[in-house]
Amino acid sequence: MSADTIHDLDALLNHMWQDYLGMNPQARAVRDLFEARGERVVNDHIALRTYSLAPVGIEALARPFLASGYQECGHYTFPAKKLRAVHFDAPGRPKVFISELLVDAMPADIQEIIADLVAQVDPATTHDFAFCTSGRPWSVDHATWRRLAEVSEYAAWVAAHGFRPNHFTVLVNALETLDSLEEVNTLLMANGFELNRAGGLIKGSPVQLLEQSSTVANVVQVQLADGPLEVPGCYYEFAQRHPDASGDLYQGFIASSADRIFESTDRR
Ligand code: NI
Repeated sequence: MSADTIHDLDALLNHMWQDYLGMNPQARAVRDLFEARGERVVNDHIALRTYSLAPVGIEALARPFLASGYQECGHYTFPAKKLRAVHFDAPGRPKVFISELLVDAMPADIQEIIADLVAQVDPATTHDFAFCTSGRPWSVDHATWRRLAEVSEYAAWVAAHGFRPNHFTVLVNALETLDSLEEVNTLLMANGFELNRAGGLIKGSPVQLLEQSSTVANVVQVQLADGPLEVPGCYYEFAQRHPDASGDLYQGFIASSADRIFESTDRR
């Protein structure tokens, strides 16, 4: 199904999931590993990335979700990486975590590069229901991509991939054959998957009410204006949520943990 025929949330979420699996053999292998154990994988959240420039900021990517019953829930800032994020929630649906690079906090030449990319976007297309998963709407060459990557791995990821899911996240609480994030990590490593060790294998703690780990993004090939380039693709994340004082599972995110998880798409 092509993105311009998508007009409802089920179709959008399905398209995002298929796009993600198609681009990331590693994610498919991880899913298959769980399903071979009889698990039905529940997605905790989907993460999207963008730049803080109109018409492609967080509000543009959030539009189809807000139009489909999602509510804006939490706001997060990542000062070291010059990012901010908002998470959106809807009952019975995966959460949607949308971050954006704070472009005006970048060096002047980076601001210019990103403004040039965003100027290639037809503003009308940002109102398409599936704009958030429509891929890369701009042309970028190797030299430009390399300059972005020197300053911000995040900026380079968005330049190379455009608008598509950066990661999906397995809700560990919903697994029936594995009781903890630690057990999930052990299983993944025993099956040859490389996990992101920045900040430790597990980011967060039961006291913080959220523990997360992630694979290291697999390398994929993208076609830039002047030829192909191998870049980090997407990663798979794993989240275990813990009950708060009232006994309800915590439903938010922890900025200090996510800060290191962003590094799952850094070049190695
Ligand atoms: Ni995440």
